[in-house]
Amino acid sequence: MAQRIAVIPGDGIGPEVARVGVRILESLQLPLQFEWFDFGADRYLRDGTILPAGFMDELRTNFAAVYFGAVGDPRVPGNEHAKGILLAMRFELDLYINLRPCLLLDDRLSPLKGKGRRELRFTVLRENTEGLYAGVGGVFKKGTPDEIAQDVEVNTRKGVERICEAAFAHAEERGFGRVCMADKANVLVHGHGLWRRVFAEVARRHPAVQAKAMYVDALAMDLVRQPEAYDVIVTNNLFGDILTDLGAALTGGLGLAASGNIHPGRVSLFEPVHGSAPDIAGQGKANPLAMVLCGALMLEHLGHRREAELVNRSVEEQVQKGAHTPDLSPLLGGPAATTEQVGSELLARVEEALR
Ligand code: NAD
Ligand code: IPM
Ligand code: MN
Repeated sequence: MAQRIAVIPGDGIGPEVARVGVRILESLQLPLQFEWFDFGADRYLRDGTILPAGFMDELRTNFAAVYFGAVGDPRVPGNEHAKGILLAMRFELDLYINLRPCLLLDDRLSPLKGKGRRELRFTVLRENTEGLYAGVGGVFKKGTPDEIAQDVEVNTRKGVERICEAAFAHAEERGFGRVCMADKANVLVHGHGLWRRVFAEVARRHPAVQAKAMYVDALAMDLVRQPEAYDVIVTNNLFGDILTDLGAALTGGLGLAASGNIHPGRVSLFEPVHGSAPDIAGQGKANPLAMVLCGALMLEHLGHRREAELVNRSVEEQVQKGAHTPDLSPLLGGPAATTEQVGSELLARVEEALR
């Protein structure tokens, strides 16, 4: 029976990169069935739909994965549709692992002197269902001189424990020797004190993996100074958000950064780290490779490991030898190509590799 994939291209460059991503995935001739949904700013502005009632249940019961472009549109000032689409799926589908590999594919893309592919190869597991994203808080006496605004960070033992476990499991499965947990336990003594204690407990259950806890500010510095000291990094929702933009900048930029929002064994969501990039939307400038790499993460989740590797290898080859969109061409040389040109070249590589 085919695995059903819900494709939500979303806003801005989302549809441009999703088209390429799906074309690559379809070329693999796996039993995958793609179904397209038009949720995003246009639909929201047209008829008020963010996600229709029952959609989460539909995903839970009938779909194997969601392949997601990006949401965010300047016509929706508070981006309420984005929260209602993306964050709602992360939370309601309980996608507690935000897996964000930061792997350099070509030495020429490194912004760090002397650091190349051998040094830049860490993966972040970002807690994805609580922390400062929980939406707990409020505003009191709004608009008055006495106004109070609060966002409460939620850290649960269960939430911290399962993401720490996932980080060690990831390290063990991939043969990585080290897991680093990043927090701010010197100041946030309650919530991040819990992270310290739980991380140490989980680490004791995985004695073969080296465990280290660090303050997030020191880690941010060290990732620039000696990225080779890190294999797997586990951290809370907000710190993970920030560290993975840094990770993207260290490994070729947002045009190459992929992520999976995962609950092992359940319907999970795969999306690039980048947003809808309104500044380049509709101009054929978007790099589709982050979206394609998300496809590879999705294939792994769906049990198609061989095809995932094939896609990863083809993207690597495209970066090293092929045409590039304007985000990469200044570093890699050659004239800038369009999203579609890069997509077509990559498709040819994938088809060649399949033969
Ligand atoms: P962004 O990631 O959309 O863009 C940041 C910069 O990177 C821009 O200059 C953009 O042109 C460039 N860029 C991004 N993706 C690229 C690609 N594939 N190829 C080439 N260049 C690329 O971030 P932003 O500008 O801060 O946000 C724009 C909108 O997207 C906002 O509404 C934001 O909330 C939303 N957003 C959504 C997601 C998501 O859906 N997961 C993630 C981040 C931001
Ligand atoms: C990301 C994005 C999202 C986040 C936004 C769009 C809500 O920045 O996926 O990294 O903060 O998680
Ligand atoms: Mn982010």
